[in-house]
Amino acid sequence: MAIEFAPLPLPPSADPSKFIDFGREVKGVDPATLDPKSERFAEIHDALYKHSVLLFRDVSMTPEQQYALTKAFDPKSEDYGHGNNKTEGTKKSILHPDLKTIPRVPQVQLIGNGTVYNHEGLVEAKLKHPSHTTFHKTRVSPEDEAKGVTRFYRWHIDAALYDLSPPRVTTLYGLIVPNGPPQVCRYDDGTGDELPVPLGTTAFVSGKTMFDILPPELKSLAVRSKVRYAPHPYVWMAPAHAMPNALGIETEGLELPLNELPPWEESKIKAFPVVWKNPTTGELHFEVHPCGAAELLVDPVPAGAKREGALFPDGAHLTELKEVRELLYKMQRPAIAPKLVYPHDWHENDLILFHNRGVLHTVVGAFTPDQVRAFHQCNLAASDDPTGPSLEDVKKWA
Ligand SMILES: [Fe+2]
Repeated sequence: MAIEFAPLPLPPSADPSKFIDFGREVKGVDPATLDPKSERFAEIHDALYKHSVLLFRDVSMTPEQQYALTKAFDPKSEDYGHGNNKTEGTKKSILHPDLKTIPRVPQVQLIGNGTVYNHEGLVEAKLKHPSHTTFHKTRVSPEDEAKGVTRFYRWHIDAALYDLSPPRVTTLYGLIVPNGPPQVCRYDDGTGDELPVPLGTTAFVSGKTMFDILPPELKSLAVRSKVRYAPHPYVWMAPAHAMPNALGIETEGLELPLNELPPWEESKIKAFPVVWKNPTTGELHFEVHPCGAAELLVDPVPAGAKREGALFPDGAHLTELKEVRELLYKMQRPAIAPKLVYPHDWHENDLILFHNRGVLHTVVGAFTPDQVRAFHQCNLAASDDPTGPSLEDVKKWA
């Protein structure tokens, strides 16, 4: 049976012209038993890099099978994206409360909401859906929340951003999906933007679109820049608060001073290009985790390129958090406009594979403690760092 790739059902809020290549539902193949050496897997592999998000419905899959499928995209990878059994051990990290490791397969995490019993070797797992109320500087009023108003939690890439390389692929498998009324995600950033969302959606935006819609001077800056992340960024940012649209941290000077972080080494700090080259399509994706970014390193415009109108034509090393964040925000905010967001409407037994080096995503919404949700998530610290734009790319866009 041939594999069928059908467009994802887009909500009325989405601009279909911006989702022509983005997202496919895959039919005619069982992802749980896919042989990584088969031609069918090769087809799925290429489709993932071309379409960024792949959805499989009615999947039955063990944690072992989910790990095997995730690993097939990077056979030399081994450990969970944040390190096996590391996130729970690092109590100060903001990721600590969100993840419970499956004992048998430490690369697979149980995430969700409410209490789950006798689950894959976990006698009792108390889960809490992360919500903006504990992470943002401001929050939706309880009255508005009761009416179904919510926010994005944190726009991000799945990545430790320190020592380990960003996973190529994340797999998300919805086992228990509570039903409930839709919510309205409010941006609260002065634009009036709002997005109707299914309860507990995972929202995705394309890093390719994020780059494509930039004006020429910001494209030039993007292809010439690297972001240097803070050491142990999730511990560093823990005392700080996020912006209301979840696209970064408010600059209030609350980050943990570097000498109060767990021990760190200069050589393990990560500096990644702002733009990552898709290994299958060659296209450029804007991939920055805004919350963890600490510095921007800008290369000069290449010889022969137009300097007029260029930002930092002689290059720059920006270390002021406020300036770094404002520049990144200017480049990333356009791409989270409601018409550019794909909010997935989860059904039980949905499996989503996403190109973690090609999209940004966020948890959305809030559940009551009695609304039980259980998902298995797997991603693996990659065997290599992402590749930035080629010399030709820089010449083309700078
Ligand atoms: Fe994530």
